Amino acid sequence: MKTAFYIPLGILAIASASCSQQPSVTSPDGSIEVNLLRTDSTLAYSVDVDGKQLILPSMLGFEAEGLTPAADAKLSLKTSSLDEEWTQPWGENKRNRNNYKELALTLTAPNLEMTVRVRAFNDGVAFRYEWNVQGRDSVTVMDELTQFNFADNAKSWSIPADFDSYEKDYRTLPLDEVENANTPFTFLTNTDGIYGSIHEAALYDYPEMTLLQTEHGAKSFRTALAPMPDGVKAVTGAIFTTPWRTIQIGRKATDLINSAMILNLNEPSKIKDTSWIKPQKYVGIWWGMHLGTQTWIMGPQHGATTENAFKYIDFAADNNLQGVLFEGWNEGWENWGGNQHFDYLKAYADFDIDSIARYASKRGIELWAHNETGGNIPEYEAVLDSAFAYYNSLGIHTVKTGYAGGFKHGYYHHSQYGVRHYQKVVETAAKYNIMIDAHEPIKETGIRRTWPNMMTREGAKGMEWNAWSDGNSAEYLCILPFARLLAGPMDYTPGIFDLNYERARNDARRIQWNGPNEHCCIKTTIARQIANWVIIYSPLQMGADLIENYDNHPGFRFFRDFNADCDWSEALQGEIGEYIVVARRAGENFYVGAGTNGEARTLSLPLDFLEKGVTYTATIYADNCDSAVAQDLSIDSRDVTAADTLDIRMLPAGGQAISFMPKK
Ligand code: NOJ
Ligand code: CA
Repeated sequence: MKTAFYIPLGILAIASASCSQQPSVTSPDGSIEVNLLRTDSTLAYSVDVDGKQLILPSMLGFEAEGLTPAADAKLSLKTSSLDEEWTQPWGENKRNRNNYKELALTLTAPNLEMTVRVRAFNDGVAFRYEWNVQGRDSVTVMDELTQFNFADNAKSWSIPADFDSYEKDYRTLPLDEVENANTPFTFLTNTDGIYGSIHEAALYDYPEMTLLQTEHGAKSFRTALAPMPDGVKAVTGAIFTTPWRTIQIGRKATDLINSAMILNLNEPSKIKDTSWIKPQKYVGIWWGMHLGTQTWIMGPQHGATTENAFKYIDFAADNNLQGVLFEGWNEGWENWGGNQHFDYLKAYADFDIDSIARYASKRGIELWAHNETGGNIPEYEAVLDSAFAYYNSLGIHTVKTGYAGGFKHGYYHHSQYGVRHYQKVVETAAKYNIMIDAHEPIKETGIRRTWPNMMTREGAKGMEWNAWSDGNSAEYLCILPFARLLAGPMDYTPGIFDLNYERARNDARRIQWNGPNEHCCIKTTIARQIANWVIIYSPLQMGADLIENYDNHPGFRFFRDFNADCDWSEALQGEIGEYIVVARRAGENFYVGAGTNGEARTLSLPLDFLEKGVTYTATIYADNCDSAVAQDLSIDSRDVTAADTLDIRMLPAGGQAISFMPKK
């Protein structure tokens, strides 16, 4: 039997009786307030920022079997707060501050205890539901009724909701024109200039949340959870905690990027010894397949051959990179798009994995394993342990997974079934000291704090789209940091130097792999390609081009000098869809990446983020504004200190990257 459960009827009447004021919680700095209130017969919340309404009363609750409280329910309120600093093994910032005030509203009935826990931070708000049901083994969630009812018809940036894919272009729309959307759902209010982004944190054993307009033309949304084939959204344990529903809030666009709220809402690491988890720069046999000059399948154009493997390992070792990826190393690619049967244990005959692994180890290089599943979850799960044990025995500590294909039996990628699978891979990998880079993943919700072997993921249109479609515009690249990247690291696979694919065009063996590809090219300047290594944070950062295009290219020095590990980061300047400037520090070196949309732009960059009193050699990789040719790069070095200011001149779709090394 399905029971409509709105957080209990009359709950606020009880709440009002048990405390003199309406329950509310305010951020530590007092600027953000969340109120719990009653509308009709349901519980609702609202959010005020700087004394003005951001979210109007919006419903909380569920339609679920097993969550109906008995009539004699009692209500209690509890407040608490936290202000702590914590350290992570890797991340944009190794040190983070977690500072919030909390309000927990608990309903206790003989058959059920249910809590709505609300946290107010200086950079946003979050709430989640917790339940403990007596006399049942499980709760069947038919629907979650949480809403986001905006006061203002804000401007928004989002991708459409799709329970199978995040590889979509962004739309810039007023809220009343957004029929549905995935998260992070980023907005800017017209009235007060408040920037925000709706997302979720700590997504485990539950479907992803998307947003669905409550009615045509409304500026309010309800949650739409990815369903199971039978329409049920989730079957949870009798004791369960939902993911946090989050709204990041800032006064500047860059505040959203500089917030650690999503991570703060996740639990500390469950992996005790994290010494084997290491950020890496990597190259791989990859782009050739997307360009159509190499194949995943064994044959005359096979990319993952022993000979190529040795070449890539040498290149990585000679260029201060740590990892190499080979796609198409294992048997089964003939079945991709068919029965999706891959063999995760058997290398193709022309890929001598034992000698390649030995050679990689001899040269101090991490060999990666690629596991394309085509969405065949049952077969992948059946061999997960043995495959990861095998990779571990070869000294492999990094696996790139892929789910390019529909799941069997009608399951969505982002359903509870999918979320469980992705998590199983992360936890199994941890047992075998393996780091994960997931493509076609579930969205990142900060679980990397708890599972720091979950390094990076795709989950947006990455570089591959430039090889066989209209690709990613400079504007797209200026929205990405303020939307998808708020969720966490992305394996965008940046850094294509041969912008027009001259090498592939001159290769008579090139095939059309994924549709017509003659018109395809990179839609930015080469300086922007370099800047993306800084802008698009990933602890596993790829140099995605063919190594032949990096060999002897002066611009590749930036990647050689770059560090995928990072101690501190800050988005210094930016507007959504317009431009972005990010600085990072790794050890004593700093790196800056800047990028613009389709407009040329000059930005003034004070270097006050550098260490005071230190003179740095700044190596500047800039657009050539004289030639205005995207492929031209201007490289210049000069001495600078924290007291200096640099002018960042960028061509349309251009960018700039700068490395700062202390002068010895
Ligand atoms: C899609 C992934 O995003 C890409 O990186 C990979 O090369 C292909 N699938 C094949 O697995
Ligand atoms: Ca993909």
